Amino acid sequence: MNVIETRELTKYYGSLFWKKKEPALDKLSIAIPEGSVFGFLGPNGAGKTTTIRLFMDLIRPTAGEALLFGKPPDDLETKRQIGFLPDNPVFSSYLTAYEFLDICAKLLRVPSSERKKRIEEVVELVKMSKHLHSKLGGFSRGMTQRIGIAQAVLNRPRLLILDEPLVGLDPHGRQELKDIILHQKNSGTNVFFSSHILSDVEKMCDRISILHQGNLLCFGKLEELLSETGSRVHVKHGEDEIIKDLLPEATGTIRLSDGSWELVFQDKPELSKRIKSLAEQHPKAITITPSRENLEDFFFRKIENAKQII
Ligand SMILES: Nc1ncnc2c1ncn2[C@@H]1O[C@H](COP(=O)(O)OP(=O)(O)OP(=O)(O)O)[C@@H](O)[C@H]1O
Ligand SMILES: [Mg+2]
Repeated sequence: MNVIETRELTKYYGSLFWKKKEPALDKLSIAIPEGSVFGFLGPNGAGKTTTIRLFMDLIRPTAGEALLFGKPPDDLETKRQIGFLPDNPVFSSYLTAYEFLDICAKLLRVPSSERKKRIEEVVELVKMSKHLHSKLGGFSRGMTQRIGIAQAVLNRPRLLILDEPLVGLDPHGRQELKDIILHQKNSGTNVFFSSHILSDVEKMCDRISILHQGNLLCFGKLEELLSETGSRVHVKHGEDEIIKDLLPEATGTIRLSDGSWELVFQDKPELSKRIKSLAEQHPKAITITPSRENLEDFFFRKIENAKQII
């Protein structure tokens, strides 16, 4: 069964009489299988929080549907299996971390005999044990974020949905969060999170999607999306003439110490054909190796392509 599945999920904000012209989310169809850490990417205003609010039953879709473990988001049994960290969490400033987590545990129906142990367990996980009896009002952004994550894992969820969990964390905190996410994954929890921090996403996720102005630009296994997205062409010293027609198309050129050139090309069908045919004509001068983009380059290329189309 898919952990999350959406079918043409669409959201227009506004009322029946006043509707925004462009949808915040336009016919999103994705399916995420069990056992994934899923990275939901996109620039500001892409529709990530809107999608997450639809999953959490905080807003209703204009059209289409979302299914979590095969059930609609308003299914109570399903809701109990989900841990959620909203974007910009704000908690009552006069409560201590313990008092706040105790209320959350009660709402989540954690049995009273287990509550204390469970709270200690989650604050330990987010490295906040020292601050358990401090008031939330005195916490920094990063500390608040950690308590937000603690409450999200309190019910030992089957699915953890985090909206920008890395925001507000220092590099050390981000590393710790990555460890928490991997720990959750290894203990059988599915994780779905939105983020702008691509290098972290690349390290943590096995699947991603990129959203842009409410439209899905790509979706799939990270390894597959990033594999062979371009080619690296090595040209022997003194053979530069052969490649001169292709030079304007290269996205990168490197002069190596032996005087040879290495050119980087994006994977475009027409261009790849020309490079291949050159290599066939001059097998001693040209060697081609597939080059793998990092997620950041891949992300910007996808967004740039989308801008040209729209
Ligand atoms: N409550 C609302 N009423 C009207 N429009 C909204 C509302 N919430 C979001 N929008 C619009 O919907 C679009 C998508 O917003 P959303 O918050 O989902 O983006 P996001 O991808 O989460 O962005 P960010 O990275 O900045 O958090 C934006 O154009 C935004 O202006
Ligand atoms: Mg958002």
